[in-house]
Amino acid sequence: MSRAFQSAAYPALRLRRTRASAWSRSLHAEHRIGPQDFIWPLFVTEGSGVEEPISSLPGVSRWSVDGIVARAKEARDAGIPCLALFPNTQADRRSDDGKEALNPDNLMCRAIRAIKDAAPDIGILTDVALDPYTVHGQDGLLDDSGYVVNDATVEVLIGQSLNQAAAGADIIAPSDMMDGRVGAIRAALEQDGHHNVQIMAYAAKYASAFYGPFRDAVGSRGLLKGDKKNYQMDPANGAEALREVALDLAEGADSVMVKPGLPYLDIVARVKDAFDVPVFAYQVSGEYAMIEASAAAGAGDRDALVLETLMAFKRAGCSGVLTYHALHAARLING
Ligand code: PBG
Repeated sequence: MSRAFQSAAYPALRLRRTRASAWSRSLHAEHRIGPQDFIWPLFVTEGSGVEEPISSLPGVSRWSVDGIVARAKEARDAGIPCLALFPNTQADRRSDDGKEALNPDNLMCRAIRAIKDAAPDIGILTDVALDPYTVHGQDGLLDDSGYVVNDATVEVLIGQSLNQAAAGADIIAPSDMMDGRVGAIRAALEQDGHHNVQIMAYAAKYASAFYGPFRDAVGSRGLLKGDKKNYQMDPANGAEALREVALDLAEGADSVMVKPGLPYLDIVARVKDAFDVPVFAYQVSGEYAMIEASAAAGAGDRDALVLETLMAFKRAGCSGVLTYHALHAARLING
């Protein structure tokens, strides 16, 4: 090396020194990722003994309630603390107003009760939004012009939340992006005696192109007319995410979520810096599909891609990650 380019610190300071052996890299690792960091999203369908693979989400299936219970036990045994459940509601139970969301015997509630019976120690997070229950695939109620009306939707979301909590849900996760819903749901939960039922707010949820395979999984892709841009956030906005988070915290959210994950790690880091509260990220279906596709195309090693992306969430400041790779990653880490 030419003397002109030597810094004053070199050679006393060589940052490669601590990277020279595996034991030293392990000792100096700033972050660790493990099964305890994962929330595993699962798709429930009707029937028994049913497994329906989702073609746009290779390796992920919808399971009937018995299969969901089996997955719950696998997750528990791998050290995963929490599941996130999503229903594929049968077509004749979808309606304009999504009222199946309020049915105490709907697919979600049956799945929650079955898991709580068989594996009571695992946490259950439930998504609050009407899209799995509506014939139009939007998260709320529509007015005549097709606009998703806010306050009337919040009224239904309150009912949906109480229904899930009564069935045994541990974390209510409103993903609908209506204004004021966190406070309204919190007040209703308190009134109903669900003092320890948590709220994880999908606080900064973007109108993203990465949700496609999820919509296949819950059967709403073909139904959805238009987009969700008048309630989900514009990918152009960062400061606005901080306002969303501030509001949801003020309304009583116990934790907040950023979604999607990888393209929005800047938002995770800003939220963590600004509020220092539990922040979660949702590595969504399109991100999962992107990793699987790149591994299938030979562009990268699947397991390494999975673990590196999950580590990125921890480094950015996440307490945990919702990921379809949860069980696979947990088993990789557990060895
Ligand atoms: C429903 C909901 C969506 C996701 C989670 N909850 C889809 C959407 O908003 O259209 C996406 C999750 C994923 O893509 O993995 N409100």
